[in-house]
Amino acid sequence: MNEHTIAPADVTRVTCIGAGVIGGGWIAHFLARGYHVTAWDPASDTESKLHRLIEAAWPALTELGLAEGASRENLTIAPTLEEAVSSAQFVQESAPETLELKQDLLARIDAATPADVVVSSSTSGYGMTEMQAHCPTPQRLVVGHPFNPPYLIPLVEVVGGEKTEHRAVRWASEFFEIAGKSVITMDREVPGFIANRLQEAIWREALHMVANGEATPAQIDTSITEGPGLRWPLLGPCLTFHLAGGEGGMAHMLDHFGPSLKSPWTRLEAPELTDDLRDRMVQGCEEAADGRSIADLVSDRDRAIIDVMRAIDGVRRGDS
Ligand SMILES: NC(=O)c1ccc[n+]([C@@H]2O[C@H](COP(=O)([O-])OP(=O)(O)OC[C@H]3O[C@@H](n4cnc5c(N)ncnc54)[C@H](O)[C@@H]3O)[C@@H](O)[C@H]2O)c1
Repeated sequence: MNEHTIAPADVTRVTCIGAGVIGGGWIAHFLARGYHVTAWDPASDTESKLHRLIEAAWPALTELGLAEGASRENLTIAPTLEEAVSSAQFVQESAPETLELKQDLLARIDAATPADVVVSSSTSGYGMTEMQAHCPTPQRLVVGHPFNPPYLIPLVEVVGGEKTEHRAVRWASEFFEIAGKSVITMDREVPGFIANRLQEAIWREALHMVANGEATPAQIDTSITEGPGLRWPLLGPCLTFHLAGGEGGMAHMLDHFGPSLKSPWTRLEAPELTDDLRDRMVQGCEEAADGRSIADLVSDRDRAIIDVMRAIDGVRRGDS
């Protein structure tokens, strides 16, 4: 990027490179938000696959509310990568998760994209530092990690690599927010970013439990959908445990359950619960609560759980 870079709010054209599950989901999202989208994917059946994905997503997107001017007609499939990026105002790469492929592809995208344009990768876990290794202008490359399906799940984790300029990270975060996403901007690279590390901890423990005959896949799924999963749509794991401490909040929770961190309740080893970690958790939960008292949070949590349970019952009954 440079002094000619367009303001995030003025972007009207985005290019998506790679149009599989995630690239196709991004395309559906950007179309629904009123952007003109150019796509490129080397597969010979790209057009029909994309058509099916967008058709399937459009009713949900319509229900959520399309932006003014949003249309499935605003999609162009380019014959080459170079043509796809030549007039892009933002590029999102969603090719297969192979490091060498990403390194070569991002270098190719970087070489063909106007120098003032930010390029983002959907990678699930590679750091931009390793992916931007062969790029001629690595300073405008960022990770913009989405969740499937990107046209419904709001979160995008944004982080740069060692050679990324901070202003490119800021630009991408602002653009994604304007494009209707919820953004976490990370200050440093961590393999798997934040949400995938948390998902992966549960996933690996689930695989261990199945491998050891401790639980079946059905029991694992029920333990989440009928258990903690019902609390997570409103409160993440930290504020959920803040409430597990009753009126004493996270401080009481850690003092009460701190010793359990030494118990073999998971194969993931806990960090030492030092005074510093305790203080950071207590203070961090106060910040996350953002002025809401424990009583407010309990009341919001209970309302949300009832609404979520009713919504799930409706889906199970097949209500339209
Ligand atoms: N599937 C998920 O839940 C998920 C979630 C978040 C991020 N991601 C990341 O998104 C990226 C894409 O994953 P996916 O699940 O959409 O995979 P996918 O296999 O569904 O799609 C990959 C697409 O890339 C195309 N492709 C192959 N070689 C290419 C190349 N050289 N240049 C451009 N496109 C090429 C393929 O034809 C295919 O359409 C990966 O980096 C993945 O880690 C996936």
